[in-house]
Amino acid sequence: MAKKKQNLLVVIGSPRRGGNSAALADRLAKSAAAAGAAVEALFLQELDIKPCTACEACRAKRARGCIIRDGMQPLYAKIKAADAIVVASPVYWFSLSAQTKLFMDRWYALGGGNDYRGLRGKRFALLLAYADADAFSSGAVNALHTFQDAIGYLGGTIAGMVYGSAAKAGEIRARKDLMQQAAELGRRLAAPE
Ligand SMILES: Cc1cc2nc3c(=O)[nH]c(=O)nc-3n(C[C@H](O)[C@H](O)[C@H](O)COP(=O)(O)O)c2cc1C
Repeated sequence: MAKKKQNLLVVIGSPRRGGNSAALADRLAKSAAAAGAAVEALFLQELDIKPCTACEACRAKRARGCIIRDGMQPLYAKIKAADAIVVASPVYWFSLSAQTKLFMDRWYALGGGNDYRGLRGKRFALLLAYADADAFSSGAVNALHTFQDAIGYLGGTIAGMVYGSAAKAGEIRARKDLMQQAAELGRRLAAPE
């Protein structure tokens, strides 16, 4: 019997359209699409996502999600509809980029009455680029841990994390090993076991 077509949401937390995390995301998205998935990729920078204000309105009785009317609203629906969510980010100041973090902070609203049901059980992947050659001194390990802890807390599954060093925009395309890992991860997300 044919397997269900997988719906992938790819969010890119770099402001650089031609950047390294975007290049990894592009490779993953193309291979996932070639393997039969429906893929939507978005640049968070372009979506006017405001910070969580800790108003707690999303946690009130009979709350109906986040009350901040901004670019995150359509994303909540896309998150709920996705089978897998791919987060692509540069390392900024030894952690995930602010764009990525704003997006993840707003997941808080999915933890109200429905206890992260919109995220629980989904598969996640992280694509990460950083300039320093070392995963520790670059801060990449902090970003990886943050992501792992967040997804573990939500009850999601991490399908894979591709991370490596590149500084100038697009330079990561020369890292054949990383590009191959991104392509392979895309195929796996498109056709889960
Ligand atoms: C504001 C800013 C902060 C950065 N902080 C770090 C850092 O802490 N560690 C690091 O290795 N690289 C750092 N970098 C370099 C980027 O992570 C690197 O250039 C990466 O390839 C950018 O990915 P992108 O092309 O997807 O934006 C920083 C770059 C910027 C602009």
